Amino acid sequence: MTSPSNAADAAKLRAAVRTRYGAIAAGRSSSCCGTASNTPATVALYESPEVADLPADIAGLSLGCGDPLALASLEPGQTVLDLGSGAGLDCFLAAQRVGPGGHVIGVDMTPEMLDRARANAQRLGLSNVEFRMGEIEHLPVADASVDVIISNCVINLSPDKPAVFREAFRVLKPGGRLSVSDVLAEHPLPESLRADLESWGACVGGALPVAEYVAALEAAGFVDIQVERQFGAEEAGLDACCGGEALPVFSGRITARKPAGIASGR
Ligand SMILES: C[S@@+](CC[C@H](N)C(=O)[O-])C[C@H]1O[C@@H](n2cnc3c(N)ncnc32)[C@H](O)[C@@H]1O
Repeated sequence: MTSPSNAADAAKLRAAVRTRYGAIAAGRSSSCCGTASNTPATVALYESPEVADLPADIAGLSLGCGDPLALASLEPGQTVLDLGSGAGLDCFLAAQRVGPGGHVIGVDMTPEMLDRARANAQRLGLSNVEFRMGEIEHLPVADASVDVIISNCVINLSPDKPAVFREAFRVLKPGGRLSVSDVLAEHPLPESLRADLESWGACVGGALPVAEYVAALEAAGFVDIQVERQFGAEEAGLDACCGGEALPVFSGRITARKPAGIASGR
């Protein structure tokens, strides 16, 4: 397979990603996109102090590459959307910050991840969090209904990033913000990484160079786009993949804003 230039390639990538993360959620596999084995490695990427208060197995099933809450400036009463919520860790942290008057929606396309996230939410007794089945390219979320979008190591996995950003723009309220941790590429990746399902699923093959990522956000209508390099491939736990070769990727923090005065899509 080459880069996802057609619908069949995109469907193949989505299926591979769903299988991979379904197996991780069900405990049948570990991952090299983060370390899904209750080790402190991905938790160490977090700045949010609340992570220490969560049960170790919930905090440990983090497959992220950073802490999308660090720059999200969440406030009580806000509505937050997590793109690719996995087992729910970032949603649970966000739920504490927005409080009982706020609302957190996690969207994920993998049924086993949704099962884990819903069970975890119940265990934590959180009533202001819900998890919806869906693809981040077709969000099951109403227009202009969200204050802040977060996401942790997911957008790189999408075969159609422009669609993700268009959907993010559509569901944000005017003036709403995006605060994302994601894997970015130092330069356009070689076809050997882009075409490899294993590398794509491990959050490497789908990483875009910063300029391309920013251009896709701009094309969707976002403004005030900032990208900050945060962790190298090794620190972010990405180097376990792809035969141990030095990978030209890093974990970055991306923030952007939907201009005030725009109700939904462009
Ligand atoms: C690397 S894990 C990150 C999970 C979570 N954000 C975390 O930090 O632990 C990627 C997650 O994104 C989900 N995912 C990947 N591509 C998706 C898509 N196109 N639409 C919805 N969910 C997706 C996967 O099912 C998986 O749960």
